[in-house]
Amino acid sequence: MPDAADATDAADATDAAAIAPVPRAPGYPAELERDVVTRTGQVVHVRPIRPADAPRLVAFHSALSPASVYLRFFSYHPVLTAREVERFTQVDFVERLALVVESAGRLVAIGRYDRLAGTDEAEVAFIVDDDYQQQGIGTLLADDLARAARRQGVSEFVADTLAENSGMLEMFRRVGFPMTTSFQDGVVKVRLSIEPGPAYAELLSAREAARRVPAGPDVGDAGC
Ligand SMILES: CC(C)(COP(=O)(O)OP(=O)(O)OC[C@H]1O[C@@H](n2cnc3c(N)ncnc32)[C@H](O)[C@@H]1OP(=O)(O)O)[C@@H](O)C(=O)NCCC(=O)NCCS
Repeated sequence: MPDAADATDAADATDAAAIAPVPRAPGYPAELERDVVTRTGQVVHVRPIRPADAPRLVAFHSALSPASVYLRFFSYHPVLTAREVERFTQVDFVERLALVVESAGRLVAIGRYDRLAGTDEAEVAFIVDDDYQQQGIGTLLADDLARAARRQGVSEFVADTLAENSGMLEMFRRVGFPMTTSFQDGVVKVRLSIEPGPAYAELLSAREAARRVPAGPDVGDAGC
């Protein structure tokens, strides 16, 4: 349960959400930034998280439904603590990375990996704004996180998922990586081998074609 000071800090951060330009940290992997089209035809922006995203993260979390928060945190957790905000927004882009999806200047989804120390495995977690779910954004984050993680020597993603979370389990299945599961105390332990085999490559190629932002009209020599 967050304490009062944490909640106050988080509320202050929300007040500061007067969307300021977001500076880039040293080592920020700008190559992971891109625009993509969602299944509803909306163009959204994917990029690594930055420390200055703290107010946006607080605003994002506070807009989530209690059901989505429960599925992600396994508990009633309406307000992120200041410590969580710091941990979630401050990543080293190597052992820990979070990618955010932005639409109209606000965060609408976050996916992250945290390497399990000294291994080639990383724990992953995803959360998508309720209004943006089932538009392919979770899968997009899984694809982009896997690509980034492989470059850092990660070969397996692991995740603990509530057994009732059919959406997450189905998303993991549909991404197309070889997957194994085990069940313990109401939690499904998912393990994905993120080396891109032919089956995954084919799925990814179809998804990437659908995500491509159409080129604008060629204005060439037009105009005066
Ligand atoms: C689970 C979650 C991350 C999935 O993200 P998403 O953007 O909605 O997923 P996608 O649109 O990429 O869905 C991929 C596939 O997963 C399945 N899926 C996703 N959400 C589903 C749902 N609620 N019910 C049934 N299937 C679902 C579908 O098969 C979908 O493919 P399809 O639309 O072509 O049929 C998102 O719904 C979410 O944030 N849920 C709340 C938080 C949570 O559960 N986090 C996971 C903690 S481990």
